[in-house]
Amino acid sequence: MMHYRCAIQEVETKLNVLNNEYSLVYNRNPIESIKTRIKKPLSIINKLKKKGFPLTIESIEQNLSDIAGVRVVCSFQDDIYKLAEILAKQDDITVLEVKDYIQNPKPNGYRSLHLIIEIPIFLSHKKKPMRVEIQFRTIAMDFWASLEHTLKYKKQVDNPEDIAEMLSSCAETINDVDVKMLEIRNMINKLEI
Ligand code: GTP
Ligand code: MG
Repeated sequence: MMHYRCAIQEVETKLNVLNNEYSLVYNRNPIESIKTRIKKPLSIINKLKKKGFPLTIESIEQNLSDIAGVRVVCSFQDDIYKLAEILAKQDDITVLEVKDYIQNPKPNGYRSLHLIIEIPIFLSHKKKPMRVEIQFRTIAMDFWASLEHTLKYKKQVDNPEDIAEMLSSCAETINDVDVKMLEIRNMINKLEI
């Protein structure tokens, strides 16, 4: 777990560097906030069991990609792709998997860009590549995902289809707002140049 914590710190530092550079050069912060988490032991065990993998350290490292998680909440949709692209180009980062739930939202309306990356940590006697799951989303997408996540755990409801429909419609409205906010930013930028 210490190794995963170190990997998270490496990723977080890289993101902070980019955010600082942006605020200096372009006078704005593309990153609104960064949240990190390490998967809890019980969740790790449950996931390994569910997928039929052995309960060993090696199995965790081989089979699970989301032990270390970083959530990057961005101001605008284009910041998400810009940041992901810049990170992917850094020579110590290898992108193992990309899931673009912004271009291809999940049926429930969930939107975010997910990257599984590998980043080395430097221990006293070796360099060790570690996997980290990075989720990029806008403030608006984060609002939706957080509420949807809490609602999922609520008791059985009588009309699940209606609720699903309403949630997915909210996700679309939220996306429209994201697109409009980006338009507004671009209009203002044009005036400034
Ligand atoms: P997992 O076995 O859950 O890791 O699925 P996966 O490996 O196919 O990963 P995926 O990239 O689809 O989703 C991983 C993570 O994204 C989840 O653990 C959540 O944090 C987030 N996520 C994915 N789908 C949803 C969703 O419908 N709602 C919310 N609120 N979060 C989601
Ligand atoms: Mg996953």
